[in-house]
Amino acid sequence: MKKSMILLLIIATIACQQRSTKEEPTTISGIYSKEDSALVNTAKMFFKIIPEQANQSENQVTDAKVKLGQVLFYDTRLSKTGNNSCNSCHNLSTYGVDNVSTSKGDAGQTGERNSPTVFNASLHNMQFWDGRAATIEEQAGMPILNPVEMAIPHKGFLVTKLHKDTVYHKLFTSAFPGEPEPVSFANVRNAIGAFERTLLTPSRFDKFMGGDLTALNPDEKALDMVLKGLVRNNLKFGARYCPCRVKSGDKEKDKEIKTVENLKRVLNDIKKTYNDEGHIKG
Ligand code: HEC
Repeated sequence: MKKSMILLLIIATIACQQRSTKEEPTTISGIYSKEDSALVNTAKMFFKIIPEQANQSENQVTDAKVKLGQVLFYDTRLSKTGNNSCNSCHNLSTYGVDNVSTSKGDAGQTGERNSPTVFNASLHNMQFWDGRAATIEEQAGMPILNPVEMAIPHKGFLVTKLHKDTVYHKLFTSAFPGEPEPVSFANVRNAIGAFERTLLTPSRFDKFMGGDLTALNPDEKALDMVLKGLVRNNLKFGARYCPCRVKSGDKEKDKEIKTVENLKRVLNDIKKTYNDEGHIKG
């Protein structure tokens, strides 16, 4: 009798839990209130949770690749004169940027555009201000061959240079085991790409989105968090992806234009409500 009572209790508890899961999503720290659910749902319209690592099937992130990519990222030998490394314009100790309007090229000339941060860039669905590279790996080869930025005359020039270095030989061989020619331009791009796939900034905002309601305090749960998320995602108030998208005429891309329009609408609402310091107006 006692045993069957306990069994019944257990079944009832499980049944209740299942029902409550259906009604309100449970979270790490409890159950979403209606307000929190609404907030998380709105946030999820615009943002995804930043993962610890941006994995990709075509370029698996391994420790050996990341190690090599990191060395390459800081190496000024990736530029012709030896003045610039990736880190010169995307300084990782200053949030992945160089803090000047336009960056200095390898021979001291001025470039035409501002350097965006490399943090979280691997999560973007395209690279550069005009979206001309699809992935972080494709992007990584371009500054090396750009005549202003790093000015390496051609792919073979860099590969020959790296071949001569025994340390690089070891690093490439362990990053790309079994490959007959591990020191290649494609692998320079893959290694830098793998390293950049670890340059992510998951924050309390992401924890909150993932269901930890205690991660943000009540003040932060106001629209302010949307603003922080936008800045973090480097969307620059929706302006960034507009020009190339609008010209596309492609159905899939048009969907995203709508998202940008939504974003602008939300931001206008935010601007009406908040002053420049992020405080509620009036
Ligand atoms: C001389 C400065 C300079 C150097 C050196 C340089 N970059 Fe850049 N980087 C830029 C500028 C400027 C842009 C934006 C250019 C554009 O959009 O046309 C950019 C764009 C990028 C982006 C796109 C980010 C985004 O949000 O779209 C990534 C990623 C990046 N660089 C990584 C690298 C890597 C990796 C290296 C080294 C192999 C490197 N950069 C070397 C200046 C530089």
